[in-house]
Amino acid sequence: MSAPLVIKIGGSTLGAADTTFADVAAMALSGDVPIVVHGGGAEASRWLDLMGIETRFERGLRVTDEQVLPVVVAVLAGLVNKRIVAAINAAGGLAAGLSGADGRILECRLASPDLGFVGEPVAVHPAVLTALTSAGVVPVISSIGYVPGAGPDQLVNVNADTLAGEVAAATGARELVFLTDVEGVRDASGTTLPALTAQDARALVASGVIAGGMVPKIEACLHAATLGVPVRIVDGRAAHSLLSRHERGTAIMPGG
Ligand SMILES: Nc1ncnc2c1ncn2[C@@H]1O[C@H](COP(=O)(O)OP(=O)(O)OP(=O)(O)O)[C@@H](O)[C@H]1O
Ligand SMILES: [Mg+2]
Repeated sequence: MSAPLVIKIGGSTLGAADTTFADVAAMALSGDVPIVVHGGGAEASRWLDLMGIETRFERGLRVTDEQVLPVVVAVLAGLVNKRIVAAINAAGGLAAGLSGADGRILECRLASPDLGFVGEPVAVHPAVLTALTSAGVVPVISSIGYVPGAGPDQLVNVNADTLAGEVAAATGARELVFLTDVEGVRDASGTTLPALTAQDARALVASGVIAGGMVPKIEACLHAATLGVPVRIVDGRAAHSLLSRHERGTAIMPGG
């Protein structure tokens, strides 16, 4: 497999009138088959609300008890995953949906007792991903992992940004792109930064300028960048943001 582009699609950009799925399909048809990783926290929250199940967040992660887990799995690995697969297929590509439990892609341990069934990646096994991309099929991976021997289902909820960083590292990705719902990383004055060093990123997290969902994203960026993978955070709502990514968004640099 030539080094793939790994694309993380934020749940917050899903449903926006963008061109991401057409761009993914066009890339795959040209022989450059990307790997797609997605979240879907907002859709999971909507279904949990509909079912009257309350949830709360700790350090940006959803506390996932035995009531929450089946809904998160059903929504992320089911509804959201199949919507993305169908959209890429409708755009002329050939996509196959997977969770991190399929093909043992995402092996985890339990992250912390107070978070319930939230997984922290231990290993990514890319064999199934390689097989699919070699066949021209775009793997679309939802952020569900497995913990051998844990809980009734052995399934865990994983932050999608973390998963994207791990997949990029394990597949030797040539680039990792986060499509999200802001133009890039903003500094204290609200200006979108064209580039961000690891040191500056850590300072912005420490001062609270980088907050909420941007924190795990930055951590995943730094992890991949340190391994030598070029990383970018780009506005997925803009037309052809994927194809024009080098002219927009924020590049995360590994060095000081
Ligand atoms: N310094 C910052 N610069 C830019 N965005 C920031 C910053 N600090 C916090 N954010 C927030 O981070 C959000 C993006 O992360 P979020 O987790 O909401 O989206 P996502 O990861 O693309 O989607 P999902 O979590 O559903 O997969 C932005 O909408 C913004 O509100
Ligand atoms: Mg997020």
